[in-house]
Amino acid sequence: MSKIKRHLITSALPYANGPLHLGHLAGAYLPADIYVRYLRLLGKDVLWVCGSDEHGAAITIRAKKDGVSPKVIIDKYHALNKNTFDALGISFDFYHRTSEEIHHKTSQDFFTKLYEKGDEFIEKVVEQYYDVAFNQFLADRYITGTCPKCGHTEAYGDQCESCGSTLSPTELIAPKSVLSGEAPILRETKHWYFRLDKHADWLKEWIETGILDGKQHHDPNSWRKHVTGQCLSWLNSGLQPRSITRDLDWGISVPLKDAEGKVLYVWFDAPIGYISATKQWALENGKDWESYWKGGEEVELIHFIGKDNIVFHCIVFPAMLKAHGDFVLPRNVPANQFLNFEGQKFSKSRGWGLEQHEYLQEFADFPNKEDALRYALLRTLPENKDSDFKWDEFVDFHDKDLADNLGNFLNRVMVLSHSYFNGVVPPAPSNWSEPLQRVFDIVEQWKTEMEKFSFKAASQSFMDVSSWGNTYLQENAPWSLYKANPTDPRIAEIMFTGLQVSAILAIMAEPFIPFTSKRINAMLGLNALPAESLRLFLNESVKQPFISSGSLLGTPEVLFPKIIDRKDTSRLSIIEKQKAKLQAIMEEEKDTSFPPLKPNITFDDFAKLDLRSGIILEAAVVPKADKLLVLKVDLGFEIRTIVSGIALHFSPESLTGKKVVVVANLEPRKLRGIESQGMLLLAERGTGELVFVGADQPMEGGWVVK
Ligand code: 2FM
Ligand code: ZN
Repeated sequence: MSKIKRHLITSALPYANGPLHLGHLAGAYLPADIYVRYLRLLGKDVLWVCGSDEHGAAITIRAKKDGVSPKVIIDKYHALNKNTFDALGISFDFYHRTSEEIHHKTSQDFFTKLYEKGDEFIEKVVEQYYDVAFNQFLADRYITGTCPKCGHTEAYGDQCESCGSTLSPTELIAPKSVLSGEAPILRETKHWYFRLDKHADWLKEWIETGILDGKQHHDPNSWRKHVTGQCLSWLNSGLQPRSITRDLDWGISVPLKDAEGKVLYVWFDAPIGYISATKQWALENGKDWESYWKGGEEVELIHFIGKDNIVFHCIVFPAMLKAHGDFVLPRNVPANQFLNFEGQKFSKSRGWGLEQHEYLQEFADFPNKEDALRYALLRTLPENKDSDFKWDEFVDFHDKDLADNLGNFLNRVMVLSHSYFNGVVPPAPSNWSEPLQRVFDIVEQWKTEMEKFSFKAASQSFMDVSSWGNTYLQENAPWSLYKANPTDPRIAEIMFTGLQVSAILAIMAEPFIPFTSKRINAMLGLNALPAESLRLFLNESVKQPFISSGSLLGTPEVLFPKIIDRKDTSRLSIIEKQKAKLQAIMEEEKDTSFPPLKPNITFDDFAKLDLRSGIILEAAVVPKADKLLVLKVDLGFEIRTIVSGIALHFSPESLTGKKVVVVANLEPRKLRGIESQGMLLLAERGTGELVFVGADQPMEGGWVVK
C-alpha cells in the first residue's frame, strides 16, 4: 500500500525575459499539466506550483537590450506568460514570482541556515572576468564564446544552449563581454561556494539505487535513462564546490555583512521559488506548506523540467535540500529532451519557431485551437529523445486522430442515440460491462502509462479506446438492426455500450484535451465528469456505469472540423501561412548564407585530390595563435601533423578520437613555424557553425574518400 498522501508537483520557473515557445510548452508545462489533471481525476491531494524566475543575468541583459529597467521586463513577461498558460489550459494551482518579498526572505533564510551549519559553504577569493569599459564583473550570461564541447559559437558563460552542457565562464573559447563586445580581463573578487563535493557519495547512491538514508526512496528504474545518465556522468567526473553568489546589482542580496553589492546566484534562489510559492499558496488558502515540503514518505515530489535543467534539479537542489534538512527530495524528475521545429532548433533571432501567444493569435479562428495544439504536442513529446514538431503531422494528428477517430465515434453515438432513443440513455443490460472488457483493460494500461510519465503511450491508449468504439459500432451495425426491427433489444445494448465508451473517453480526454473533455461532457448531458466511476474502477476494481440509464443527452456537435476539407479551406490556409513563414525565412537565409558557386572543374581536376579518412590522435593550441590548433592525425599508413584554423570552434580535448576527412596530397606548408601536412574538411553553416565532414561515419584511418 502506497504511503503517498500528497503530490507536490513543480514545473521549471521560466525566466520572465521573453515569451515562451512551443518547445517550452512541450518540455515542462504540458506534461506536468497532464499528470496533475490525471491525479486530480483520481481525487488525489495535489499541489502544482510554478512562477516566473525574475533574477539573474537573463533578465538584466534583456532589460539592457530593450533600454528599460528589469522591473518593466519582469512585469510584462510575467503577465504575458501567466495569461498565455491560462489560455492554453495549463492549470497551475499557483503561479508565483521570485521578486516577491516572501521569496527573498525564504531564499535568504535558506542561505543563512546553510551558512550557519559551518561546513556547507566555503569562501574564496577568485579571479573572474571583468569588463573594463563597463566597470563590471561579468557573471554567466554576460559572457559568450565558443562551447568547448560542441563548438557552438554563441554559448553562454554558464551553459551552452546548443548541446546543453553546463559551463563555467573560463571554459569558453574566445570569450567576449556581452556589454562591450571586448575580450574581458580577469580580476579578483570574493564569493561563497556550496560544498557540492561533500554530497557526492549519498547523491550517487540515491541516483543509482534510489536509496536515501538507508531506505528505498524511489525505484531507480522508474527514472528516464537520459536523466540518470546525465547525472551519473556529472557525478563520475567529480563534484566541485559551486559558487552561489554573484557580482550583480539585480537579485536577492547575500545576507552577510561582508557581501555588499553581491546577490545570490539565480540558480540558488530559483528552485527555492518552489518552496516560497507553496508558502504563499498556503497563506492565501489557509493550508500548511510544511505538510508538502516536510511531509517525508507521505509526499511525492516531482519536478517537470527540460533536459538543460537536469543537473540543477537532480544534483544541486537535492543537495541544498538535504544540507538544509527536513525537506523531501524528488521521487522522479521526468525531464524531457528538446523539441525542434520543422527540423531545426527554435531560434528567436532567426524567427524560427512559434511562441505560445503567437499561436493563440494566429490560430484565433481555428476551432478548438487549444486542444488541437495540446494534442499535436502530446503526440510529439520529446520524452526520451529530441523530437520534431511538423505542421504536416499537426494536420494528421488533428484530422486522423481527433476528427476521424475520436470526433467521428462520439458523433455517431450521439446522433444514433438521439434518433433511436430520443436522446435518453437506454436501459443497462444485466451484463453491461461484459462487452467493455477490452476497454477496461486499456484504461488500466493507460493508468500505468500515466503513472510512468509515458504520456505519449497514454495518448495512444486513449485513441485505442476510441478506435475500439468505432470498430464496435461498425461490427454491430445498430443501423442495420434498426432497419430490420426498430424494437430489437440489441440496439439498446449497443447504444448503452457506445455511451459508456463515450463517457470513458470524456474522462481520458481530460488530462490531454481538457476543453474537449468539457464539451464531450456537455454532449453527454453530464453535469460533472464521471470521475467517481473511474476512481471506483481504478482504485477498487469496482465497475459501475459511467453514464446511467434514463439520463438525458445533450446536443451532438462536431468537435474537430477537419483541416483538409475541400468545401472549407479556411483551416488549411492558417496552416499554409505558417509554412509560408518558414519558407520565407529559408529563402532569405539562402540569399545571405550560400556563396555563389565556383566555375566548373573537369573530373580530372577533381581526381587530383587525394582524400583520406583519418582519426585525430591529439590536439593542442598553437601558442600565440588564437585560431590555430595543431593536430596529430592517424591516416592508417602514417601519422600526420596538421595545423587547422578551428581553435575558436573546438577545444583540443573535444577532438581526440574524432573521425575526419583529410586532403592528403596538399603541398605541406609552414604555419607559425609548424609544417602542416594536409588539411581537414569541414562544412560551415551560414551561421558560422562548423562540423567535421564524415565525423559520424564508421570510418577507420586511411580509407580513400572518392
Ligand atoms: O532554465 C530556465 O529557464 C530557468 N529559469 C529554470 C529555473 S527552474 C527552477 F529552479 F526554478
Ligand atoms: Zn555546446
